[in-house]
Amino acid sequence: MPIRSHQLRCIGNDARIAPEEIASDFRDPETRELYEVEYPWSETGDRPGMFPRNLPNASALRHLWAERRDSTLPIDQSGVWRYRELLPILQDDAHAITLREGNTPLYDLPRCGKLLGLDFLLAKHQGLNPTGSFKDTGMTAALSVAAERGYQWVACASTGNTSAAMAAYAARAGLRSIVFIPEGKIAWGKLSQSMDYGALTVQLKTDFDGCVQMLAELVRRNPIYLLNSVNPYRLEGQKTPAIEICEQLDWQVPDHVIVPGGNLANGSALGKGFSELKHLGFISRVPKISVIQAEGANPLFQWFTNAEKMLRPVTADTRATAIRIGNPASWRKAARVIEATGGWCESVSEQEIALAKAQIGAEGIGCEPASAVTLAGAKKLVAAGRIQLSERVVLLLTGHTLKDPEYTIDFHKDLLATGMAEADPYRKPPLVLEANESVVLRALEAEMARA
Ligand code: F0G
Repeated sequence: MPIRSHQLRCIGNDARIAPEEIASDFRDPETRELYEVEYPWSETGDRPGMFPRNLPNASALRHLWAERRDSTLPIDQSGVWRYRELLPILQDDAHAITLREGNTPLYDLPRCGKLLGLDFLLAKHQGLNPTGSFKDTGMTAALSVAAERGYQWVACASTGNTSAAMAAYAARAGLRSIVFIPEGKIAWGKLSQSMDYGALTVQLKTDFDGCVQMLAELVRRNPIYLLNSVNPYRLEGQKTPAIEICEQLDWQVPDHVIVPGGNLANGSALGKGFSELKHLGFISRVPKISVIQAEGANPLFQWFTNAEKMLRPVTADTRATAIRIGNPASWRKAARVIEATGGWCESVSEQEIALAKAQIGAEGIGCEPASAVTLAGAKKLVAAGRIQLSERVVLLLTGHTLKDPEYTIDFHKDLLATGMAEADPYRKPPLVLEANESVVLRALEAEMARA
């Protein structure tokens, strides 16, 4: 048997398959569960007779990764492929399709921290990736696999960010891409991106969950590579922010990482990243990982609350359109990560999201509404005593504020019906004035006197 650099493990029954044996929908035909990429050095890969075990050396890799920061090679400049020893998914690293994703800043949020009573509140801004969302880290990984395996067409169903990322990376690789999006339910910035990058964009008169079903049929009948987050290679890229956060903290581990929950792949991916780092001796413990959902799209929160066996899908509705998902594919993976790390699943209202977004914006950072659920959720976790005030907390901001400017403008014009007095100080509607000197001066002086 040839020595493989990775295999795929079904999370339902632990059955292993070779990478090329995977079905087009990335589910095990019997269990209908998803797969996880497993390496010779993975904790679960440590089985007699399977692989020669050759653990990557943590201190040598820390040095190598630091040195690559000075390199001019595209794959070294990528904040995903810089860590390629922990994601050996390609036959040849030269096949990596990169837009120099990753390398995103870890900001402190002093004012939001103060509001919550926390000394140490940080934001990992994944919205500062090339297409403006965290999806780029996963897309560089899975799209590179598609290109290496010779696919001509790739496709995804999306609430907007996955499609923008897929379209960009496909264009980069010279592949054709097909995007299914729910008509009228994604932010314009995102729709315009997939058009800009030349994707075949299909707006379906259904929701995200309906788009997923339609796509499953398409990929079953055609040689099209599916790039939704059921594709386990997406998660290999999306685990790298865990490495980057630890590196940025000089290999100190935060106590708590808080992520938004939509299709629920991101929390799962970060959990995999942190636990691999611990297994390999980079860090001594893993942070708690908590997932926050919008109240109108909170099936995982309900599953935790009701302690049922299976997740009960909901009809999703929220203005945080990125996470408007009622039947999340990776719910079991996310539930396991939350349970294994001692994190929580929370649910936040539309009002809480709007206020949190404005509070992050007031730090000069800005994010899209789906990202702001993290701050809204952190407030609830602090209030419930689930985050101690001494904890070091990192919020994962997943998307750029320019992805959904309409939401921001509606908030400031008070069109979101938040009805929250707490939000009033953050509202800054534009002044519309006659272009007359005395009118302008009088209005501005009145404003400045009020400040
Ligand atoms: N934040 C943003 C900005 C997103 O676009 C998404 C998901 C999430 C959070 C949730 O991440 O699905 O891994 O739990 N957007 C997907 C899309 C579904 O199609 O762009 P998740």
